[in-house]
Amino acid sequence: MAQYVGAIDQGTTSTRFMIFDRSGTEIGRHQLEHRQIQPRSGWVEHDAAEIWENTLKTIAVALADTGLAASDLAAIGITNQRETVVLWDSATGTPVAPAIVWQDTRTDYLVAGLDEELLRERTGLPPATYFSAPKIQWLLDHTPGLRDRAVRGEVLFGTVDSWLIWNLTGGALHVTDVTNASRTMLMNLTDLDWDPELLGLFGIPRAMLPEIRSSAEVYGTAGTVLPGVPIAAAIGDQQAALFGQTCFEPGEAKCTYGTGGFLLMNTGTTPVRSSHGLITTVGYRFGDQRPVFALEGSIAACGSAIQWLRDQLGVLDTAGDSETLAGRVDDSAGVCFVPAFSGLFAPYWRPDARAAIVGLSRFHTAAHITRAALEAICYQTRDVVEAMAQDSGTVLDCLQVDGGVTANALCMQLQADILGVPVSRPAVAETTALGAAYAAGLAVGFWASLDDLRANRHEDRRWQPSWTPARRADGITRWRAAIDRSLDWVNL
Ligand code: G3P
Repeated sequence: MAQYVGAIDQGTTSTRFMIFDRSGTEIGRHQLEHRQIQPRSGWVEHDAAEIWENTLKTIAVALADTGLAASDLAAIGITNQRETVVLWDSATGTPVAPAIVWQDTRTDYLVAGLDEELLRERTGLPPATYFSAPKIQWLLDHTPGLRDRAVRGEVLFGTVDSWLIWNLTGGALHVTDVTNASRTMLMNLTDLDWDPELLGLFGIPRAMLPEIRSSAEVYGTAGTVLPGVPIAAAIGDQQAALFGQTCFEPGEAKCTYGTGGFLLMNTGTTPVRSSHGLITTVGYRFGDQRPVFALEGSIAACGSAIQWLRDQLGVLDTAGDSETLAGRVDDSAGVCFVPAFSGLFAPYWRPDARAAIVGLSRFHTAAHITRAALEAICYQTRDVVEAMAQDSGTVLDCLQVDGGVTANALCMQLQADILGVPVSRPAVAETTALGAAYAAGLAVGFWASLDDLRANRHEDRRWQPSWTPARRADGITRWRAAIDRSLDWVNL
């Protein structure tokens, strides 16, 4: 009997294949980065073919390194960067355009005229460049003949989950899951199906859309890649992390610090509408059970702020060096850094905001700016924690965290200081992949119940707040002033 479950975690900057045992312990992994293509300011693209090739390589290497065979896997789950748009030829499987990534702001002129009330009511989402629909519209508008081909079913749309399942099944299945569909701005939250009026609004032909399925069921098998292995889960990466952190009860929440930052709170089987700048989204749906909804605070730039210091400014060799460099100074000495490279998401929703570093004098060094970048990650998170408390009435007494940035202990200490509540990191920090594995394993009976999964969660480390209330209040005042500069920049 197969003793393991695999997970494809296709993120914004890399793809990994991870293998877990029944205790949720990682047995092996392989990870590959892919190119971030930025042809113009505000544009971010991926090559979907490169992502598929990397997926194949990561599976092959992870299996080879662990000495396992496909038959050792009870199932695989897929989790993915959400919203990113892939369009491909239904006959050849070749992408017909670059994938437009969730961070891309080229559609700001399209979203400016959208009806916020209608979109929030139907989809739980505010008008923003972040979501899939305007990106699909842009591609159909700018590629001659594409809309006609899409009407004829010759061109298909998918978020990355859909693209991977289509490829894994040799083109047999064009499906997506309800969590990914809830990020397209085309799915109605009431009946969890494509909304004909929204399709008309964005000029998107129904024929190009995948079928919406649950997050955990056997969609098919992984063809020649993993012969006989069921593909038993597809779930957006942030929802997968919610699942991996075992936030199964209403009021339970987690924050994942990846390329972006994403705080999600389980709100149970009824969608909670936000009036404080959050998103209402599907948390997960198991087979034909009732869907579980979540409130989400999405932060556009989190780890990407550190990557920018590394790649564009060259002040870091590795992202991990940010902890050492920022640790050379006691504080940012008044510098604030708002990393609004893709505008500001929750709770502001301003695609026109731009990044700002304010408060500089000749005294300041790369260490101060790096420390300000870490603080920015934490202040942005505090903004969404506050909105979450206002929308849900639930005040978090501890923040459960995961994701790559949580390896930075200084950043997590700052998070506890800036929030004023403890921060807890689980033993398995890869909760995104773990959540997809959990969903797939539940679907095939590898795990029997949610209690089995809860029993697997162990805390690795906890950070306690150390700042005085006065220091926290002073920091928040400065942060708000810096946010105002970032929002005002376009008006100058
Ligand atoms: O909504 C975008 C999100 O799914 C991307 O996550 O971890 O790749 O930054 P990540």
